[in-house]
Parts: sequence; C-alpha cells; structure tokens
Amino acid sequence: MRHLLDTRTLARQDALQILDIAEDMADAQSRKVRKLPTLLGKTVVNLFFEDSTRTRISFEAAAKRLSADVINFAAKGSSVSKGESLKDTAQTLEAIGADAVVVRHPGSGAPRTLATSGWISAGVVNAGDGTHEHPTQALLDAYTIRKRRFGADSRGRDLAGVRVVIVGDVLHSRVARSNVWLLDTLGAEVTLVTPPTLIPQDVSAWPVRVRYDLDEALAEEPDAVMMLRIQLERMHAAFFPSEREYTRRWGLDAVRMKRLPADTIVMHPGPMNRGLEISSEAADSARSTVLEQVANGVSVRMATLYMLLAGEQTDDELNRGDR
Ligand code: CP
Repeated sequence: MRHLLDTRTLARQDALQILDIAEDMADAQSRKVRKLPTLLGKTVVNLFFEDSTRTRISFEAAAKRLSADVINFAAKGSSVSKGESLKDTAQTLEAIGADAVVVRHPGSGAPRTLATSGWISAGVVNAGDGTHEHPTQALLDAYTIRKRRFGADSRGRDLAGVRVVIVGDVLHSRVARSNVWLLDTLGAEVTLVTPPTLIPQDVSAWPVRVRYDLDEALAEEPDAVMMLRIQLERMHAAFFPSEREYTRRWGLDAVRMKRLPADTIVMHPGPMNRGLEISSEAADSARSTVLEQVANGVSVRMATLYMLLAGEQTDDELNRGDR
C-alpha cells in the first residue's frame, strides 16, 4: 500500500490486513514489547494544519513504537502563517527526510493532492481532511467493533450482519463518511440518524438507511451506536435545531442508553461535547468504548505505518524487539 487516503477506495483485503496487523501490534504491546525495530531509520512527519489531540498523539506513539523518528509539524507557529504553500511546506519536510507524511488539513482533498501531485515521493496518510474522510478513525472504529464482538477470535473476520447506528452531524463529519464506506466494505449494516438539516445532499448514493427519529432507530437494538460531534466550528449559518432541541431529540442520555441491549456498545470518536450529543452518564458508562477506541487507535496506526513503510517484511518482526 503506497498511501492511505480514504476508505471509499480501500480494498476489503487491505482493510482486513490492516485490522489483522493491528491485532499483532496489540498483542506485541500486551506482551510488554515496548518497541519494535520495524521502522528503524524511517522518518514520519505529522503535518497538521488543524487542531488534534487523539490523532496526532496516536500517530506519534505508533511511529515511535515502531522505532521511527517522528517530526511534529503544526501549521500554527510555522511559516504557513507567512503564506507558505502546502507544496513548499511538504517539500521542505521531505528535504529533511520524511518517508511518510501524516496530514490533517481543513481542505477536503488536500492529502490526495499531496499524494498524486508529484510534489513529494513520501507515502501519505490522511489524518482527516475537511468534511471528506478520516480513514484511520474508521479503521480503529471497525477494529473496536470487531474486537468487542469476536474477542480473541477476531483475526480474518469481517463485520457481516453487524448493525451500526451513526447519530448526529453527518453533514460535517469526515468520521461518518469514512465509517459508512468501510463498514459497508466489511459487510455491516449502517443506519444514519440525523436532523434533516444535518444530512448531506448526496446521501441517497450512500450504502445506508436514513432515519430522523433516534428512539425508533435504538428500538431496533443495534450492535453499536456511534455518536458524532456537533461541529459548530464548521457551521456558517445558525445551528438549527437549537442545542436544547438537539439534545432532547438526538442526544444519547442515560434514559435512552438503558433501553439498549446489554451488549450494545456506545462509541464516539472524540472530542465529545458532553451534555450536547452525549451525556456524561453515557460517555462514562461501562458500555462506552470511547477510551478503548483511543487505545486501539495506536495499534491501527502502527499497522497503517507498517503497511506503508515496511513493505513486504514478514510478521516475524513482530516477535522481535527491545523489551
Ligand atoms: N477523533 C479525532 O480525530 O480526534 P482529534 O481531533 O483529537 O484528533
């Protein structure tokens, strides 16, 4: 795999391979193998033009656990504020020795431009571009669902028949888009639940059912309920419905959660607007996978960097390493 730009075009075989390698990475970590030598001598650049906590730190931890060197670049405080272009910034980082560039950018399509323009030869990973896609978030979400469902027996399995309800601000959510495509590739059934004002115009072309009533969707007893963040920063018009109305009709609270089957998991990619799309009781409950998703993200990102940078090296490497 040369780049990871989206899940819409990610082959089922590549998706399953990333999830299975992530299992190996998690196993190595659980055996207290703190560092694998796999990417010794490689340099990973985290090129972030938008704020991030989980994704940036997770990619940094993943690269370091594979013994890569890591350079963290944040647009704030850099020469981007003097007008330097994406092309010049990326070429500068490659001149410093980047083998892979992990890019987060407000412009939908920026990672693809970087990967296909010929500006740089490094592998490119999309760490979230505008409202387009966030492929490693979807992969870590699929990993989390698979792990909860199949436990130690997860390897090689897809998500056929798993029912996932995605709730909230689908219009602005790259997480929703990446999840829809990946979950469909893996055989899951996806229902979107959203206010009519927060649904994308092209949703009829997506492999999903759309509902507007959260209680009706939860009554169908899904296997996973994925709450989305309301992205007020991407809304140019006033937020409609009002925040109070949104919470009442589309928020997940303790009352709604108690109606779900005991093994239904509650997911959120973070950061959460507690009290808006999800209550603290729901976010902190035993069925919440919020922190599990963060932990799994490191293994999935290790697998992604491995796929990009370690080429055809064998899995035997996973059994070696500094203890
Ligand atoms: N889920 C996610 O992308 O979080 P960050 O914005 O903190 O990276």
